Amino acid sequence: MGKCPECDAWNSFIEISESNKETIIPISITSDTIKLYEERIKTGNGEFDRVLGGGIVRGSIILVGGEPGIGKSTLLLQIASIFAKKGKVLYVSGEESYLQIRMRAKRLGTELDNLYLLIEQNIELIGNTILQEDPVLVVIDSVQTMFSPHLEGSAGSVTQVKECTRIVTDIAKKNGIPIMLVGHVTKGGIIAGPKTIEHLVDGVFYLEGERTDIKRILRGVKNRFGTTNEVGIFEMQEKGLIEAENPMLTFISGENEFPIGSVITATFEGSLPIFIEVQALATPTYFPIPRRVVSGVDYNRLLLIIAILEKRLHLNKLGSFDIYANTVGGFKTQDRAIDLSIAVSIMSNIYEKSISEKTVVFGELGLGGEIRPTIGAERKVMYGKRLGFKNFILPSFFKDKIKIAGIDLNFVDNIKDVKEILF
Ligand SMILES: Nc1ncnc2c1ncn2[C@@H]1O[C@H](COP(=O)(O)OP(=O)(O)O)[C@@H](O)[C@H]1O
Ligand SMILES: [Mg+2]
Repeated sequence: MGKCPECDAWNSFIEISESNKETIIPISITSDTIKLYEERIKTGNGEFDRVLGGGIVRGSIILVGGEPGIGKSTLLLQIASIFAKKGKVLYVSGEESYLQIRMRAKRLGTELDNLYLLIEQNIELIGNTILQEDPVLVVIDSVQTMFSPHLEGSAGSVTQVKECTRIVTDIAKKNGIPIMLVGHVTKGGIIAGPKTIEHLVDGVFYLEGERTDIKRILRGVKNRFGTTNEVGIFEMQEKGLIEAENPMLTFISGENEFPIGSVITATFEGSLPIFIEVQALATPTYFPIPRRVVSGVDYNRLLLIIAILEKRLHLNKLGSFDIYANTVGGFKTQDRAIDLSIAVSIMSNIYEKSISEKTVVFGELGLGGEIRPTIGAERKVMYGKRLGFKNFILPSFFKDKIKIAGIDLNFVDNIKDVKEILF
């Protein structure tokens, strides 16, 4: 309208769009509505609950990532069926058929009336269905197969993955429904992998392991409701992922007499020490540049440790050996305490002497050959003693700090001390 019919003024109208008038009602910080979100729902799977920090928080959104075939759908179907005992669960799949999922559930022994399946990829439809059904848990498998019809680009593109996550996060938060997302990680370049949505979700957990091995590790890398870096250890069996009986000792081969090159170390993951067996093999090389091959062990760290041994222990001959280093079960860790065990396993090859399976070595290795402290040392010794280890080689930093009787503690300053003690 150009002229106001009331006061006859020209161009006095201001355009206000409808949505500008829309409001939302804030809630008081003491409100009971918030209380509802306090409750943690235990999944009943001990390892999973521990990694999550005591269960799933209402309205939280959790991402479970991992390589194809590692067991994500299996784990989430197991969790879905635990929740189905409490109420209606919605399991949305964009990549499998009703029959495939039912067959898996049959194998796992988790067919339940309350477990509802939805084969769909349109996230708007899925969102509306979640609101209509009001389930106790939603599983979306996988976020890369979902798409919003309002966006260009095919499912799996960065914009689609982000928008789909945003839509379900909004539903989770506003309605107090926990939602678990599956995200595929590919070994090669991660294009629209879980990394692009890590900041949008409350918890990020990766299922890791060697596909040829039955051991699986569920590792927390982000958790707004608990400690991060916590790991849960499982075994992939016919009936699905089963909690490991003795998680702290899962990554030890269990040989009675260790061969040359095997050594036990203790890493600290979240709140738990995990004892792992590190193995190295050094053989004369047939190549101009010796081979360095790793599994579970960080490649660059191995190169660094070899360089330290060459320089500080005058082991110049390492350059004429191929060196293979791995952890049993391919266990990967961020804990630098593993350094010393890699060094010792190489030394064991070179000095041709085996290390007892009752000995645990840990410590970070500095460039000067010095041995630095790492976290969780006291717990490592405490649990180690309980688990039957007899002898520890650990950084001298802990000399006056760890006082645990009935176990042989060898405090070391430098890699040279380690050589004296063990070889
Ligand atoms: N009958 C079975 N017994 C033991 N493990 C099985 C059986 N069938 C499938 N699996 C395991 O399940 C894995 C596939 O799990 P799945 O949950 O589909 O993985 P993802 O969803 O991560 O791609 C296979 O790699 C295999 O290790
Ligand atoms: Mg799957």
